Amino acid sequence: VRAIIPLLVVICAVAACVGRPAETATGEEIYLQLCSNCHAEDLTGSVGPALGPGSSASAQPDEYLRMTITSGKGRMPSFESSLDEAQVERLIAYLREVQESE
Ligand code: HEC
Repeated sequence: VRAIIPLLVVICAVAACVGRPAETATGEEIYLQLCSNCHAEDLTGSVGPALGPGSSASAQPDEYLRMTITSGKGRMPSFESSLDEAQVERLIAYLREVQESE
């Protein structure tokens, strides 16, 4: 057991480095951790375009959001290796919730 604890600490530190959200993180938590740097905490955009109410992303189908998140687009990196399918779905649901809030 004593040998396993330091190993777990290292694994957790590495996971935090690549910014992999907790398995059970909500869509909002994932957004704030991985997306808000470039799209702003309130989805109004900065480096990347706005994603909130009235944005062009809000008029796009879920499949488009899914593709953009998993494959990246232009200067946006791919998040395929940091998010599993369920996390991507929760993230899209969060974007929709904010888009529909106005
Ligand atoms: C390093 C900055 C950066 C990060 C981090 C980032 N994006 Fe982006 N995002 C961009 C840029 C730049 C574009 C515009 C790409 C283009 O059209 O060439 C973009 C485009 C998009 C689009 C398409 C918007 C449109 O109107 O076509 C969506 C959707 C999107 N990002 C969602 C996300 C989500 C969700 C996350 C978090 C998982 C995220 N982005 C993280 C920079 C970023």
